[in-house]
Amino acid sequence: MLAADPELARSLAAGYTLPAEWYTDPAVLQRERERIFGRSWLYAGPASLVSRSGSYVACEVGGYLPAVIVRDGEGRLQAFVNVCRHRGHLVARGSGACESLQCPYHAWTYGLDGRLRAAPRSALEPGFDKDDFSLLPMQAETFGPLLFVNPDPAAGPLAETLRELPAILARSGTDLAALRHHHRTDLGMAANWKIAVENYLECYHCPVAHKRFSAMVDVGPDAYRLESRETFLSQFAPVRDAPGEFQYHLLWPNLAVMLYAGPPNLIVYGYEPDGPEGSRRIADYFSAEEADDATRRETIAFSTELFEEDRALVESVQRGLRTGRVRQGRVLPRSELLVHRFQSMVYQALSTEEERRR
Ligand code: FES
Ligand SMILES: [Fe+2]
Repeated sequence: MLAADPELARSLAAGYTLPAEWYTDPAVLQRERERIFGRSWLYAGPASLVSRSGSYVACEVGGYLPAVIVRDGEGRLQAFVNVCRHRGHLVARGSGACESLQCPYHAWTYGLDGRLRAAPRSALEPGFDKDDFSLLPMQAETFGPLLFVNPDPAAGPLAETLRELPAILARSGTDLAALRHHHRTDLGMAANWKIAVENYLECYHCPVAHKRFSAMVDVGPDAYRLESRETFLSQFAPVRDAPGEFQYHLLWPNLAVMLYAGPPNLIVYGYEPDGPEGSRRIADYFSAEEADDATRRETIAFSTELFEEDRALVESVQRGLRTGRVRQGRVLPRSELLVHRFQSMVYQALSTEEERRR
């Protein structure tokens, strides 16, 4: 089914949606891990956590892959799969400063270069070579206040995914490098991560579902702009009765990057799979150093209110798709251009290389 399905490709191009089972089937999630999350640049958290030499942060990316990112003594970023080469315990936890990474299970100790430095009693074992058991490498890079990892050591640089996004964000006048992280929320949904992303990618539902939001920005089809690029999908919403616009981007595959009009700010949401029929929205909030607390709290409250309105929608879609009775829906490519594009990106990523070349 996933390998080569020209009929599915044709129906997607004609505006039909991905089949219902792509939102429920564990085999699809497994394929997404291999072909999407296993080889894309994924948001890992605020870059400030690893700004100093000897600092580290442990996180989970793609909803399943533990990563540890360190800033080594020379100031270089290094990232590793945070799984001990002994018997699989997670090595690092949380964030902080360290000179080495020690697994809490049997105290195997790794350098900040990922190499195994010490393994108690291993000298008693003939033929045991510490050089064979380095932590598995990943890649890490930062963009503004954001830290990214790529599980694929052979993947191209982050800039190949960001492309024109930094320039578009800069049009708002926001100096991303000057923002600091002030809050994180981590909220769960009983809906496949793609349903959550697709909901984020259209404002066709805004007049119906988000009354307060729709009173604030112009969500009408002539004012609300959708732009599709190769690696990110953008929405621009003019603020009513004031200059400025909101920017809503989705950086492939699962990171929402948002700028609200007003005082300098940045919000990102990582939509992380949590099993085939669940997901989490991890939100990090950034603002200027001098921003006042009331504004920060209002931003968090507003975004959480939108989340609750959306959660009801996406959980209902999950229940509908689980029936399998409506196997393929029909999008409106003018109003839902970005949903249409996202689904074809998912299809492209999961279909075989041979098919991609056709
Ligand atoms: S699993 Fe890490 S030291 Fe044993
Ligand atoms: Fe919404």
